[in-house]
Amino acid sequence: MSGGVSVLDIKGMSKSYGAVKAVDDVDLHIDHGEILGLIGPNGSGKSTFFDCTTGLARPDGGKVSLEGQDISDWSLNRIAREGRMLRSFQKTVVFKKLNVEENLVIAGQMFTFGGVLSTFGIGRGTRAKVKGLREHARELISLVGLDQVAHMPAGNLSGGQQKLIQFASMLMPDPRLIMLDEPMAGINPKLIERVVETIQYANQKMGVSFLIIEHNIDVVTSLCSRTIVLDRGRKLCEGTPAQVIANDQVREAYLGG
Ligand SMILES: Nc1ncnc2c1ncn2[C@@H]1O[C@H](COP(=O)(O)OP(=O)(O)OP(=O)(O)O)[C@@H](O)[C@H]1O
Ligand SMILES: [Mg+2]
Repeated sequence: MSGGVSVLDIKGMSKSYGAVKAVDDVDLHIDHGEILGLIGPNGSGKSTFFDCTTGLARPDGGKVSLEGQDISDWSLNRIAREGRMLRSFQKTVVFKKLNVEENLVIAGQMFTFGGVLSTFGIGRGTRAKVKGLREHARELISLVGLDQVAHMPAGNLSGGQQKLIQFASMLMPDPRLIMLDEPMAGINPKLIERVVETIQYANQKMGVSFLIIEHNIDVVTSLCSRTIVLDRGRKLCEGTPAQVIANDQVREAYLGG
């Protein structure tokens, strides 16, 4: 239950690039425990919406509240390092020379120790901190099914496996909200299943809410309780995945008739 305060509440988000209104006066809220889908044609403003929400791009207007706190003026670094709201990029980013476990430990170290350690009840002292991070990393490596390759350099693994590393890294600081930009792009059906299950696990067992940009409609249907459709920067419609798919305007603008 949300208790009335959304995880994320955005009002009037707008961003233009020259004459292009990439995002045009969009409102969006995510309830606690919700998995919200964000879909729409190429160039409809989905990634720009993420950029503006996470401080990567400065919006022309709009208010961003995270768990009731106004973070509209926060920098990209402040939002990222705090570890409450995290995002992935369309392009996967991992430390290629480090092994899988080291990737997760480093990710954990980049965030404030407080959040991670409170999960494990570990006190001060660097060794204890790193031990806690290692234990947490191992759990998450199992969760995404990378135990067999935990000590291989990330750069030697497939693109799909690297996506799993990135995803597991994002769970390290115990975030409240994860924003995923096309998590299924370029990965095979079996791994898609694994990523879907992992998102569901993180959602149900770890209490992480999600905002997911995804072109794979089957994935959107199986994961999301609600979906927002963007078209040319504006919200075209909103509803359950089934409602949205049945909408004539969505079919015309996005799904191809
Ligand atoms: N940094 C930028 N500079 C100039 N124009 C940009 C920039 N970022 C995005 N745009 C423009 O804003 C519009 C929205 O782009 P955006 O990447 O947000 O779309 P998208 O919905 O994520 O598309 P896709 O599904 O292809 O990833 C496009 O017209 C794009 O060219
Ligand atoms: Mg995009």
